[in-house]
Amino acid sequence: MTATAGGPSLPQERRVVTAIPGPKSQELQARRNAAVAAGVGSVLPVFTTRAGGGIVEDADGNALIDFGSGIAVTSVGNSAEAVVRRASAQLADFTHSCFMVTPYEGYVEVCEELARLTPGDHAKKSALFNSGAEAVENAVKIARSYTGRQAVVVFDHGYHGRTNLTMALTSKNMPYKHSFGPFAPEVYRVPVAYPYRWLTGPENCAEEAAAQAIDMISKQVGAENVAAIVIEPLLGEGGFIEPAKGFLPRIARFAQDNGIVFVADEIQSGFCRTGQWFACEDEGVVPDLITTAKGIAGGLPLSAVTGRAEIMDAAHSGGLGGTYGGNPVACAAALGAIETMREQDLCAKARRIEEIMKPRLTALQEKHAHDGPVRIGDVRGRGAMLAIELVKPGGKEPDPAATAALAKACHSEGLLVLTTGTYGNVMRFLPPLVIGEDLLNEGLDILEGALSSL
Ligand SMILES: Cc1ncc(COP(=O)(O)O)c(C=O)c1O
Repeated sequence: MTATAGGPSLPQERRVVTAIPGPKSQELQARRNAAVAAGVGSVLPVFTTRAGGGIVEDADGNALIDFGSGIAVTSVGNSAEAVVRRASAQLADFTHSCFMVTPYEGYVEVCEELARLTPGDHAKKSALFNSGAEAVENAVKIARSYTGRQAVVVFDHGYHGRTNLTMALTSKNMPYKHSFGPFAPEVYRVPVAYPYRWLTGPENCAEEAAAQAIDMISKQVGAENVAAIVIEPLLGEGGFIEPAKGFLPRIARFAQDNGIVFVADEIQSGFCRTGQWFACEDEGVVPDLITTAKGIAGGLPLSAVTGRAEIMDAAHSGGLGGTYGGNPVACAAALGAIETMREQDLCAKARRIEEIMKPRLTALQEKHAHDGPVRIGDVRGRGAMLAIELVKPGGKEPDPAATAALAKACHSEGLLVLTTGTYGNVMRFLPPLVIGEDLLNEGLDILEGALSSL
């Protein structure tokens, strides 16, 4: 094996030299089982040693094609040059002072970038945190503080995190909520416009779902009691659901008309992932607040709430923060990630990934529309946030077993894929935006072979 570092210099070739997981990973897995709590899962127990571009290398020397980006995080690739350069320089200067004790420029620079990059040309401010869930919690705190109201409205199939409040905001019970209650009060869930599964069909889905959601909010909660409506413009863990066109603007308008803070949770869909800096730009929706994390810092833990200055300033001084929020190394990494996205035009790269992948996925859908034990019911998503929904032949009944079998078949050939969805029947594709087209096509060849082998 060549002794290169990870990052962009890692050879961009798939290599399967052992069973997956191989013997070294299995040894490590045994140690892990003895030392790590069982509740912390892993999609594929191969132990990572290096990663870069579109490749993840494991302890046995296997090189896997990466269609997951560590769940939509390493959009700029692992150990991207600008991320390493800026974070290393920051590591050498100082690792922590706590922004709440003595501030530093990197934090301010990230907030300035967020003001420039997020939709809308109004005055904006930001606050930085560590995880996505923490950002969502703080968006709710800020919205409550601003409105003096308590209720929070979320949507079917929504996912917002694993802390107590964000578990309450999250739709799916297993594995996120089961046995972990009681949950935070004043959270109300309404329908989302899920075209593939809308009972009357996709044609009027946006209109009908928005009408139902608004009716439920008005009748069951009272718009005047709602502090925030929180929605993912392209739903992630719920199954890469693109709300039918027209749904988001209707909900945003309702929020605006009723003094409700409209929060776009772009933690998974943001930072070039869908071919725009932010997914809500597709329908020209300008959120009051936007939550970001994941792709923002090339793999270091950082998250943010960004929004209208008057809303962001509503919380009293000292009311927001946390020891590590906006850590200087994570901020330096974020500036490196943003530099990479701009210089390499990663929004265009995401659109190119869609151009390559979607026709091939659609061809697979046609091939597996009727025959055989597996059926692709739906192909959806935008940019490099794409998915297929697997259903049983003869209808739309979700097929989580086939989805799991398909993922396993891909893994054993050296293609790292993730499954998702309320019904566990969605295979999602989140390649790093810097992946080479050869690897992308090779990954799709593997998927095609795996589907045929089921
Ligand atoms: C839309 C969305 N919101 C919030 C979160 C929670 O982020 P974190 O896991 O960093 O807490 C996620 C994570 O998958 C997410 O996709």
